[in-house]
Amino acid sequence: TPPQVVVVGSYVIDLCFNCEHFPAPGETLAGTSRTGPGGKGSNQAVAAGRAGAPTLYVGAIGDDAFGRDAQAFYEREGIATHWAVKSTQPTGSAAILVNAEGQNQIIVALAANLKLAKSDLPAIAIDGARMVICQLEANLPATTHALKLGRDAGALTILNPAPLRPDFKATMLKHVDILIPNETEFVELINRLGLHPGKKPLTTTAMLKLPPAKLHALCGTIGVPVVIVTLGMRGCFISRADGYVEVPAFQVKAVDTTGAGDAFVGGFAAGLLEHDGDLAAAARHGCAVAALSVTKPGTAPSMPTRAAVQRFLRRQR
Ligand code: RIB
Ligand code: NA
Repeated sequence: TPPQVVVVGSYVIDLCFNCEHFPAPGETLAGTSRTGPGGKGSNQAVAAGRAGAPTLYVGAIGDDAFGRDAQAFYEREGIATHWAVKSTQPTGSAAILVNAEGQNQIIVALAANLKLAKSDLPAIAIDGARMVICQLEANLPATTHALKLGRDAGALTILNPAPLRPDFKATMLKHVDILIPNETEFVELINRLGLHPGKKPLTTTAMLKLPPAKLHALCGTIGVPVVIVTLGMRGCFISRADGYVEVPAFQVKAVDTTGAGDAFVGGFAAGLLEHDGDLAAAARHGCAVAALSVTKPGTAPSMPTRAAVQRFLRRQR
C-alpha cells in the first residue's frame, strides 16, 4: 500500500533516566536508564504506523551509530522511511529524566534534524498522501515546505506545534488544516499572536476555566479550520467552524507520560483513516493510543499496536 500518512519531523535517540528526584545543581544521583528511539516526528510516525495507518516517515539523521540504530529500528517495525543522512551533524539526542512521581525533564539536541532541507522531501510520496503531519523539532523552512506540498497535493495538513520554538512564525499556519497543540502550547500561541482580548496574557489555569463558547471563539481567531487542544488526563477539545466538542481521556495507571502527545497525534491520524474523517471518533482513537502509551515506559517503544488499541476500545464499552 502506498503511504497514506506522511510524517515529516524529528528523529532523536532518547536516553531515558529514572531517578527518585531530579538532581540539584552539582548533585550526582544513581539511577537506571534505557535508550530508545524518540523525537516527536518519529514518535508520531511509529504511533500511526503501529495503529495501522500505512505511514511514511521522513527525517534527518547523522552518519553515525545512533543514525544506523534508527534505520534498523524502522526496518524491524516495517514502517516506510525516507532518510536524509547528514555528514556534518550527529543524530539528534535527548536526555530525559523521569522522577518517582513520573514527571519528566528533557533536554533535546536536535542536531541533524535542524539540517533537514526542502530538497530532502520526497515530493512524489507527499503528492499521493491523504495526510501530512509535522511538528516543530525539525528545520522550520523545510517543515513549512512539507505542509505546503501537502496542501498543494490536496492532502490534509496537520501541525502539532511542539515545541513552540521562539523562531516559530505564524505564517506557517496558513498551510495548516488541523492544529493540535497541548494546553501550554495553545495558551502560548494565543499570547504570542496577541489574540487574547484581556489586558494580561492568558494563563493555562485561566484558559481551563473558560466556558466552551469562549474557548471555541478563541480557537476561531487562530485562523486554522480545525483546532484540537490536548489536555492530558482531561482528554481534548475540538473546535471547528460548525462546532465545539469535548472528548474525554481514558483513565489508566500512568508509568511514563513522555511522548503521550505524540501518541495522540499518531493515533488521531490512524483514527481519521479508520473512521472516514470523523474528527471526534479520530480524537477518541488518539486518546486510546495515548492512554496505552503512558502505561509503558519510553516513547516510541511504548506505542500500541492496532490489535491492542481495538482490544482496549472494546473493553471501554
Ligand atoms: O515528545 C516527546 C519527545 O520529545 C521525546 O521522544 C524526545 O525525544 C523529545 O524530542
Ligand atoms: Na510511554
